[in-house]
Amino acid sequence: MDVEIRRTAPGDAEDFVEVLSAAFGQRPSPDRFAADVADIAAVRGWHALADGRLVGVAGLLDLRLTLPGGSRLQIAGVTEVGVLPTHRRQGVLSRLMTALLDDARERGDPAAGLIASEAPIYGRFGFGAADRVARVEVETGDASLGEPPHEEGRLEIADLATAQAELPGLHERVCAVRNGMVSLPLFRSRRRYRDAESEVGGFGATRFTLHRDAAGAVDGLLGYRTKLDWTWSTGPRGDLQVEELWASTQEAEASLWRFCLQHDLMRRVTANWRPSDEAFAVRLANPRAWRQTLSDGLWLRPLDPAALLSARRYGREDGLVIEVYEPEGAAARFRLEGGLEGAICVPSSASPDLSLGLAVLGSVCLGDAPLERLHRAGKVEEVTPGAVARATAMFRWSPAPWSGGFF
Ligand SMILES: CC(C)(COP(=O)(O)OP(=O)(O)OC[C@H]1O[C@@H](n2cnc3c(N)ncnc32)[C@H](O)[C@@H]1OP(=O)(O)O)[C@@H](O)C(=O)NCCC(=O)NCCS
Repeated sequence: MDVEIRRTAPGDAEDFVEVLSAAFGQRPSPDRFAADVADIAAVRGWHALADGRLVGVAGLLDLRLTLPGGSRLQIAGVTEVGVLPTHRRQGVLSRLMTALLDDARERGDPAAGLIASEAPIYGRFGFGAADRVARVEVETGDASLGEPPHEEGRLEIADLATAQAELPGLHERVCAVRNGMVSLPLFRSRRRYRDAESEVGGFGATRFTLHRDAAGAVDGLLGYRTKLDWTWSTGPRGDLQVEELWASTQEAEASLWRFCLQHDLMRRVTANWRPSDEAFAVRLANPRAWRQTLSDGLWLRPLDPAALLSARRYGREDGLVIEVYEPEGAAARFRLEGGLEGAICVPSSASPDLSLGLAVLGSVCLGDAPLERLHRAGKVEEVTPGAVARATAMFRWSPAPWSGGFF
């Protein structure tokens, strides 16, 4: 099959959305289609044509990623990837990905990031799973919340317009304090609320609650839906589903979780895409009530390892030479010196202490996946004895990275 890759022209957004919808097996309503077309105009898009017909699409967004230690780095956000079901597994995505990564390199982005629809797709292109996100489920009757702590702030019911207005600023404040967070372009934050007024899966329209600090500034935002179940013999057994819970302070986070778990008529609270180390889980007198299942969140593909590794901080002061090989096999070496105050990473010709693939580097660079575990799994080669333990201590970071959601 002859595949040609070219940039999406300004008038091609409708074709782009047609192909993307077909790839995902969806037929959006006319309103939804129009909104998607408007969104695509803000993405740097690529078309893949086979024998002159559009068969695949992909896009890039400029995003900022928060690294361990707090610095924020521009990354290329890969998004809107789809290939027609009639043209799968013939190398169309591979061709698109080459174009996307070349473009990101030309712009000087030190890494590309994405959220994967399916986990096996992107490892072959050098992406590694960089944070873990939790699906949480709590039976409210089991939670044992105990007495509420003294609070300076207060909760307030909010409408959709207020939530929409508050989200961008609050999201930025969360990005500033949490490694792994990815900035949300304004048009993407509006997209989060597209279905807010409709029922989804039997759950009612989204309701919002804000947390304000003592001075009245918003430091927490909760969006949730409920499904009521009136079973008279056992009492009401409602479900509360957290759609989003953003908080820039521990007080706001705990207060919004208590609000969910103490909501009248609800027996079960569920939340998706939460951090793997949510502090509220260990506030419960019965932490066993907090049931969570972990999955991959953000996938990172280093493009300039030296720039990426220089920008973060490290859990222990140390220095190592790391050999990093590309999916195609070419290898480069870097000398990394880093600690809690900062780091320097430069190309090196010295013999390496460790050797690993780009995808493994993507997995460890936010401080989550322990290098030692990847070594046990045969994904990291230890050349200098003891280097794996030293690198594990260096790269580990707390709190765990949390990417926060789709972009
Ligand atoms: C995922 C998708 C974009 C892949 O496109 P594609 O053109 O079929 O991919 P390619 O042919 O370039 O595949 C490259 C390699 O990845 C593998 N691969 C692709 N999709 C895969 C998947 N879902 N699971 C496992 N492997 C996959 C292929 O087998 C191929 O491996 P090979 O080189 O060893 O043969 C396409 O199947 C699709 O549109 N899916 C539905 C929408 C979607 O999930 N989009 C991704 C959003 S993040």
